Order: sequence, then C-alpha cells, then structure tokens
Amino acid sequence: MTPNGRVAGKKVFISGGAGGLGSAMAQMLAREGAKVSLADLDYDGAKAAAAAIDAVEGAGTAFAFPLDVTKEDQWIYALEEADAAMGGISVLVNNAGVFGVGDIEQFAFEEWKRVMSVNVDSVFLGTKHALKYLRQNQPGSIVNLSSIAGLIAAHNTPAYNASKSAVWLLSKSIALHCAKQGLDIRSNSIHPAFIDTPMLEAFRQRFGKAETDAKLGRQLPLGHIGEPDDVAAAVLYLASDESRFMTGAELKLDGGVSAM
Ligand SMILES: NC(=O)c1ccc[n+]([C@@H]2O[C@H](COP(=O)([O-])OP(=O)(O)OC[C@H]3O[C@@H](n4cnc5c(N)ncnc54)[C@H](O)[C@@H]3O)[C@@H](O)[C@H]2O)c1
Repeated sequence: MTPNGRVAGKKVFISGGAGGLGSAMAQMLAREGAKVSLADLDYDGAKAAAAAIDAVEGAGTAFAFPLDVTKEDQWIYALEEADAAMGGISVLVNNAGVFGVGDIEQFAFEEWKRVMSVNVDSVFLGTKHALKYLRQNQPGSIVNLSSIAGLIAAHNTPAYNASKSAVWLLSKSIALHCAKQGLDIRSNSIHPAFIDTPMLEAFRQRFGKAETDAKLGRQLPLGHIGEPDDVAAAVLYLASDESRFMTGAELKLDGGVSAM
C-alpha cells in the first residue's frame, strides 16, 4: 500500500512493542509518518523491531525502551524517556498482554493475578501516567487492546475473559474522563479474534501451526484467522485524526464471530 502520511507528526508509545501485533502496528504507523516508541519486557526484541523500522524509514523514527507494564515506576521512566526521544507523546497504545488457559477449578490464583496485572493494571498505569504527555500533544488518542474474549466468554479462559472485559469498560471510563476534562483525547478499545502471532502458541503446541490455525479459523464465519496487519490497520485509524469523533467505542475485528 502507498503511504499517505495518515499519522504524520504523531508520536506513538506502544507497550508490548516487540510482539506480533506491537511490531506490526509500529511498522504501519511509521510507514504512515509517525514516530514510534516500542516498550517491552523483551527489551532485545523491542530494540530489534525498532532497528528494523529505522532501516526502512530512516534513523530516529523508532525507539525502544525496557518496560514491565505491571510496574508503576517503570511506566513513569519509560514515558519520560519516550517523550524526550520523540519530542512528545500524542498516542498511547496499551497493547502488552498475556493469555492463560485453564478452567476456573484448575486455574492457579497466582496465574489469575499475573494475567489480571499484565492485562489490566497495565492499562490503568499506562493511561494514568501518559495523560500528562497526551495533554501537551492534543489531539491525542488512547488505543487499548482488549479482545473478542472481552465480549464473549469461553469455558477455559476465566482470567483472560475477565481481564479483557475490564479493559473494555476501563477504555470507556477513560474516554468519559477525558471528555469531561474538555480534552481532545479519545479512548477506544479493539477486540480481535484469533490473529497469527506468538500468542497462539498456547494452542499450537498441541496440534502444530497449520492444523491449529485451520481449527481456529473454522470457528470464525470468515473461515480463517486474522493477520497482524488487520489489527494494525485499526490502530492506524484510531491513532489518526480520521477517527476524531470516535471515543468510548469498541472496534471488533473478529471474522464475524460475535455476529452469531
Ligand atoms: N493474537 C491474538 O490472537 C490476539 C487476539 C485478541 C487480542 N490480542 C491482544 O493483543 C495484544 C498483543 O498480543 P500479540 O498477539 O501481539 O501477542 P505477543 O505474545 O506476540 O506479544 C505480546 C507482547 O507483550 C509483551 N509482554 C508480556 N508481558 C509484559 C509485561 N509484563 N510488560 C511488558 N511487556 C509484556 C511480550 O514480551 C510480547 O512482546 C495482547 O493484549 C493480546 O491479548 C491478541
């Protein structure tokens, strides 16, 4: 696709930027004119993803920072560094997340707390501390990666369902807070179904990639799983001013499964 500068001048902070979706959205945003900061527990992965973007888009387009999204002090530091590196922050993408499988009787309390913390505390902490920068760089946008699992439950993903549902409503609360403050800062959530990233490893370990992807695809009306760029395109729209009248909304990228 020919780049059109749809996010020219935007400065985007992406948590989980080393992962399948994080690196894909960073590439697409950079191609469309944004500067991007990739923050991840996997700092080496974030550095490699940022270097790959700089190799294509030019030095100084992408930056990498170490970040554990469950740690408040690390958020404060990473945001400060990203603000200095990019000359501001106008978009926050709360993308880092973890999956967890096991029914409620099997699921360990420690694992429940870990999933809730990585998936939910992250959005609370990231938004709480990024708003200071977004205020200075309006119009701003907050994009939260929920999941179709935040709207539709499964029998064996209690923590993932609960955490992603929390992200869904937290996004709306943030949207209302910003509007009430008279800020031109929007907050929306994205709800993908199965997308081809390392997150699907939990399923693939048993049947291998091809068979697992086919099985998962058959659960969706469109008949196949999604690509990282399918989600990146939605992040691009929400990060851009094209979505300037959209706040407190949810965008489903689920191959039609929630229509059933
Ligand atoms: N892939 C899918 O099918 C799918 C579907 C719906 C929603 N999502 C959501 O999209 C987001 C991105 O997922 P993905 O598919 O790219 O997965 P991924 O596993 O490829 O990437 C997740 C990234 O988050 C990072 N991370 C994990 N814990 C962290 C922590 N404590 N601090 C900082 N970084 C941490 C990982 O290092 C990794 O780079 C997640 O929130 C996920 O729940 C994914």
